Amino acid sequence: MDVTKYIRPNVQQMKGYHLEKQFCDVKLDQNENPFDLPEAIKDSILQKIKTVKWGQYPDYSSAELTQKIAAFAGVRHEQVLVGHGSNSLILTALLAAVSAGDKVMLTAPSFSLYQVFNQVLSAEIKTVTLNTDDFSLPVAEILAAYASEGIKMMILCSPNNPTGNAFSCAEIEKILAAVNGLVLIDEAYQEFHQDNLISLLPKYENLVILRTFSKALSMAGFRVGYLIAHKTLIAEIRKTCVPYNVNMAAQIAVSEILNYPELIEEQIKAIVGERELLWQELQNLTRLKVYPSNANFFWYELQTVTKPSGIFLMTGYWCVMSVVTRDWRTACDLMSAPRLITKK
Ligand SMILES: Cc1ncc(COP(=O)(O)O)c(C=O)c1O
Repeated sequence: MDVTKYIRPNVQQMKGYHLEKQFCDVKLDQNENPFDLPEAIKDSILQKIKTVKWGQYPDYSSAELTQKIAAFAGVRHEQVLVGHGSNSLILTALLAAVSAGDKVMLTAPSFSLYQVFNQVLSAEIKTVTLNTDDFSLPVAEILAAYASEGIKMMILCSPNNPTGNAFSCAEIEKILAAVNGLVLIDEAYQEFHQDNLISLLPKYENLVILRTFSKALSMAGFRVGYLIAHKTLIAEIRKTCVPYNVNMAAQIAVSEILNYPELIEEQIKAIVGERELLWQELQNLTRLKVYPSNANFFWYELQTVTKPSGIFLMTGYWCVMSVVTRDWRTACDLMSAPRLITKK
């Protein structure tokens, strides 16, 4: 019985996004925050979740959460769209802007999900390789490709997963100013870098910023991300959202965490401090070439490996334990497989 005949051919051809659960002492393969929330804040969140009616749908527009995120990010609430993790909002934005056959520009290496979603939508992917010496943006090449290819949308990740480096505001502005299409900047790791692209929003109506509560804000389990853009663009993109895209518990929990800006700041400071320490220590390891990071992980290359290879190392832990990182040697198509490294 061939049931695949019911599935679109382009989906049949896809590998899909894949993650395997790893058992280890220190889990570094998903760039999560190593700190959990204090018990008292967890208790307060649980108490609030208990007081609402679980049989009713959550607030359709996540109004309170949207207001709080807008204040946190320094924008108006009409400029914010929240969703079930920033992952889902990548798809939401693509659904709103990209039709089958449209050209979408991606950089390589970058977050593999961009490719997956574009394949689902039958978009034509145009990939520009980051400069090999430092993973910086080949701006001239990007602009040339835009001019000759008729690109509909571009997705940039800054700081970039998996290379860890951020692109400068000036480079990003050059692209925003020169191109016609939407430029989605995935800032999942922005808090570890602090460069703020929000100041570019009044000038560039084609800028869409994507952020998440999953990394610096330590709330990956609740699945909340948000888009920030021109209010009319947000109103249009909102049309492609699945209704009730942020559940009741997530709305409450993430609203609550925003009541503790000092805690958020303290955790980010600690991780950035650890990143600097780890960077110094990694310089002492022979056979390992480590690249500077603006995020909470490093890209490194093992000297014994001939092809470009990258393995994540999240800051926060560097211990004599089993450590799961990610192996990018198989990443010719930007997919990756987790690999267990045991340092004893
Ligand atoms: C660049 C980038 N964007 C988005 C995500 C997904 O974040 P979320 O948990 O908000 O879906 C990740 C997670 O690893 C990421 O690295």
